[in-house]
Amino acid sequence: MEAVKNKSANRRSLAGRNEQKLLNSFFVLYKTARIIEESNATFKRQAANFYASLRLISEETEAVSIKSISGRYFVNQQMVRFDDQGPSGASTVVAEWDSLGIGGVNFAPHISLGEIEQFFTFIAKVKPNSENLESLSEKLKAHEMSSIKLLSRTSGADKDSLITEEQRKELRRGARTTFFKAMSVVQEVMVNTKQDREINISKTKRVVHSLIDHITRDESSLMELAAIKDFDDYTYAHCTNVCVYALTLGVRLGLDRSRLSQLGMTALFHDIGKVKLPTDLIRKPEAYNENDWIQMQTHPLLGSKTILRNLKFDVHTARAARGALEHHVNKDFTGYPMLRSKRKALNLFSKIISIVDTFDALTSGRIYIRKPIPPEDVLKKMHYQMNVKFDAFLLKIFNDVIGIYPAGTVVLLSTDEIALVLTNNETDKARPYVKIVGNKDGLLESPEWVDLSLEENHHRSILRKIDPTRYGLDLKHFVLCD
Ligand SMILES: [Fe+2]
Ligand SMILES: [Fe+2]
Repeated sequence: MEAVKNKSANRRSLAGRNEQKLLNSFFVLYKTARIIEESNATFKRQAANFYASLRLISEETEAVSIKSISGRYFVNQQMVRFDDQGPSGASTVVAEWDSLGIGGVNFAPHISLGEIEQFFTFIAKVKPNSENLESLSEKLKAHEMSSIKLLSRTSGADKDSLITEEQRKELRRGARTTFFKAMSVVQEVMVNTKQDREINISKTKRVVHSLIDHITRDESSLMELAAIKDFDDYTYAHCTNVCVYALTLGVRLGLDRSRLSQLGMTALFHDIGKVKLPTDLIRKPEAYNENDWIQMQTHPLLGSKTILRNLKFDVHTARAARGALEHHVNKDFTGYPMLRSKRKALNLFSKIISIVDTFDALTSGRIYIRKPIPPEDVLKKMHYQMNVKFDAFLLKIFNDVIGIYPAGTVVLLSTDEIALVLTNNETDKARPYVKIVGNKDGLLESPEWVDLSLEENHHRSILRKIDPTRYGLDLKHFVLCD
């Protein structure tokens, strides 16, 4: 039993194929149970499929819970990559669950196939808004389906929640430690590269794995940190931000852990060629002249050569070298450097880095341009340039990751309160998780976290975005002092 517990505790990454199969068979059976009778052969076959998937998982953990929280799916508290827009019909079911107050289902160990068939026949026919969690739980008891428990929807105040307020704070603290660790690793790599000293690749890989672990558990805390653009040494912060954005996009794309690790390394090393350029050029406060640009445009090739020369050759370094070379090459092969062969499509990682690098550079206003542009304007600008510069599909996913109110946006609420957006809500992007920092009377002494998607906060809605500089708001202060 202890061994099983340890094994479970050590499984920190995304859950795998068995969990995906379980979710798929669960929702397919749910959908089927709506339209055909329990005695139908298709229903029986799908119930048997789900039962087999359940047994496979319950061998390890006994009871099995399936939950949907803010557009993400969990099996036994592990997030599972799952396409709920696909043929399983999961998104429709979950939308109905929302109206019924259901957040998921727990199956006790040793549940029988008969009980599963009975449950799906019952639950799939419940109409949206017709019942609530309590009444449905009572009915399950009355029909003696004691091996099945309906779970409540997750909210910040919900004791059944996978992420309570305390856990959220803990995740934020952990994210901060990892983020600053990553920044110091980037610094070490860059300083060592400049002085032609050995680079500790295992340390870099370890920090990338910590970032992946954080993002798979909690996407938003690292994104909040990446939204701070005024760290003293922006070069190191920029590489860390690019890594956070790239990995978040990679997780959304469903890349497996080893590809995520390669993507993270590629992101951290993408601008390494800049250390070979004069510091005066990198830190030049004025706009670049033609000569400066010629020098700056050598950094992809310098970076690629540096990676290949200074690091042990393996799949990670090969991908990082290609990413460094191609990250300023556009979709139509304009940009720099000019590649000899245009027949070969750009590498996926290069296309990802190109998007997230441009976003971070323009929102920070430290590199190439001297004035930061608000994130939503940067996304619009990037959208206009899509045909020439960026991969349309990847840009769309990145738009989703950033959300309509990106972290760092300051908004005016219908209650005359001023709030800072730090976290998007997957299910309702117009109602993010915000920190109320002021009201008509001025800034609050102790800002209040508010989840605008919760019913208790529905009297508050976002009226419009406002300029943070007008109110003297410092994003770094609000993100770091939690
Ligand atoms: Fe670059
Ligand atoms: Fe860059």
